[in-house]
This record gives sequence, structure tokens and C-alpha cells, in this order.
Amino acid sequence: MSEHADPRRHLLRLINGFRISQALHVAAVLRLSDHLAGGPRTVADLAAVTGCDPHALHRLLRALATAGVYAEAPGGRFASTAIGDELRGGAEGLGDWAAFAGAASMWHAWSALGHSIRTGENAFASVYGESVWEQRARDPAAGAAFDAAMAALSRHVAEAVLEAYDFGALSTVADVGGGNGALLAAVLRRHPHLRGHLLDQPQVVAAAPALLAAAGVADRCEVHPGDLFVAVPAGADAYVLKSILHDWPDEAALAIARTCRNAMRPGSVLLVLERVLTGPPYPPADLPAAFSDLNMLVAPGGQERTRDEYESLLRAAGLRMTRVVPTTTEFSVIEAVPSTS
Ligand SMILES: C[S@@+](CC[C@H](N)C(=O)[O-])C[C@H]1O[C@@H](n2cnc3c(N)ncnc32)[C@H](O)[C@@H]1O
Repeated sequence: MSEHADPRRHLLRLINGFRISQALHVAAVLRLSDHLAGGPRTVADLAAVTGCDPHALHRLLRALATAGVYAEAPGGRFASTAIGDELRGGAEGLGDWAAFAGAASMWHAWSALGHSIRTGENAFASVYGESVWEQRARDPAAGAAFDAAMAALSRHVAEAVLEAYDFGALSTVADVGGGNGALLAAVLRRHPHLRGHLLDQPQVVAAAPALLAAAGVADRCEVHPGDLFVAVPAGADAYVLKSILHDWPDEAALAIARTCRNAMRPGSVLLVLERVLTGPPYPPADLPAAFSDLNMLVAPGGQERTRDEYESLLRAAGLRMTRVVPTTTEFSVIEAVPSTS
């Protein structure tokens, strides 16, 4: 009998999903997939290099092997699988996301999901007494962990966005709230004629010059420490907002869209890269968007939106939605132009 045909077994697996999340987090923090990049290694070897208890580490590897992340190779060694390879850190995979998502502050915030559901209030603020942005600005390690996590996710999405949307006709692209520049670096690398503007908070863009230089695009990109509620570079051909509007409730999201609208000239486009909620019905394919919506409630205090909700938000900001381009990831490119042009 398949697991789906056995509702109780299926439910139990969902309930206990947090165990898999935390095991992946620990594997990512220990950089197990990076240590296995050169081939299979013994548990003793991995325990020595990570400073772990060999018996406990074996139990972690065995558990993750049942989830398809690692595999036991001949001679009692463990190897990474194609899934495990994606858990590498830095530009190699989603390891930095796993390290961030399983860290104590996110888990504590998620433990207050019930508070959010009962009250509508942001869980993170109810637990910590400050917003995620205040915490990340105050604690450089927390800020860097989040920035690296977002870069890992955005590198993964960048290729799909570049396949789905043609940046070739543009000359200048401004990435507003572009983090440490991972997405913009990918866009500029793909299109050598393009020039870029990267705007984010000062402590975030501090890491951008090194990343842009490593990508070989620093000479085509201006970095702007700034506040996206106040002003963004004027006159670019395209303004990218990736995973920005979903961080905020409607009033603040509207203010951000207006800041972009004020900087746009006739002919500029706004490209909102977000997960778009659909349904009903709610197919399993929409799970990432719907659970990201809960994550927005828990962490930054924002929300995911439907196509209609984006359309009316953009309209209120003086923008006309022209199309929604799906990508092979759960992200879509929502294109809008100034409604008066
Ligand atoms: C969810 S992250 C998205 C980062 C990037 N666009 C990506 O998708 O990888 C939100 C970004 O908004 C930035 N941000 C938040 N408040 C801001 C503000 N007032 N001014 C500029 N950037 C801000 C954060 O620093 C962070 O980099």
C-alpha cells in the first residue's frame, strides 16, 4: 500500500517532518555534503573532520540516508547523493538556507505559529520583542546568516528567471533590496551588455563588492547603501523586487512599490519576483507558496499574494500589471509598467 493510500501513515510522516528539517540543518552546519564532495568517506573520518561523536554522527547519516540525502557505500563509508550534493554551502547549493532555516531563532519563532494564528500578530516579534530586520541589523552574525541563506535561494531561482524572462532588451537593471547581489550578479553575467544598480541596507550591501568582483561584474554594477522606503536609483530600465513585497503587509508593500514607481521613467518595467498564490483548489504544487505565506506570518510579518492581490496593489502604486511569467521554480515574474506611460 502506498503511503498516500494510508492516511494515518502519511499524516505521521508530515507531523514528524520537523525531524528531517533539523537533521538537514545539522548536516548543513557540519558541511557534511561539502566534506563528501570528493567522494565517500568513513564515519570515523567525517567525525574527525567535523569534531563529532562517531556513533551519533553515524545515526545522523543513517537517518538522512533513509531520506535519500546520503547513501552507505561499500566499506562502511557514506557518499553524498544528487540530493545531498544540493546541501553544499555557499554558491554550491542550499546549505546556507538549511543552516538558517533550522537555526534556533527561526524555530523559536515557528513555535509561536499558534499565537500568530490566534491573534494575526507576527510570531517572531511576539517571541523576541523586535522584528527580524531589527535583530539582523543588531546581530551581524544573524544578518550574515540570513543574507547567505537568501543568496543560496536566489542563485537557485536566478537561472530559471533568466530562462523565462528576456533581460536582453534592457540596458540597466536595479535590484531593489537585492541583498548581497547574488541575483544581480547572475543577471549581469548572463547579459554582458547590462549595467546594474544594487540597493539594500548598508550592513547588507557591505558584502556585495566582493561577491560582484568574484562574479566578474563589479565594473558594471553600482552599489547603493539605502532605504527602499525612501528612494531607489532613478531611471533604470527595469526594477527588480525579488522576495521583497512578500516581506511586508499591504501598506508597507504599497509604499515600496510607490518608491519604485517614483524612480521609473516612461518605458521602465517593474519585475516583481514572488511566489503567486493560486486556488482554490490548492494542489500540492502550491505547497511552497502556501507555506512561504505562513513563514511570512511567522518571520518578517508579511504575506504571499494572489495574482489579483498583486494587480490591485500595483494599481494603487500607479502601475499596470502587464503579464505574469511563470518559471520552472515556484517563482513567477510579475511585470508592471507605469500606468500613465
Ligand atoms: C527576503 S530578502 C530578499 C533579498 C533578495 N532580493 C533575494 O531575493 O535574494 C529582503 C531584503 O530586503 C532588505 N531590506 C529590508 N528592509 C530594507 C530597507 N528599509 N531598505 C533596503 N533594503 C531593505 C533586506 O536587507 C533583505 O536583503
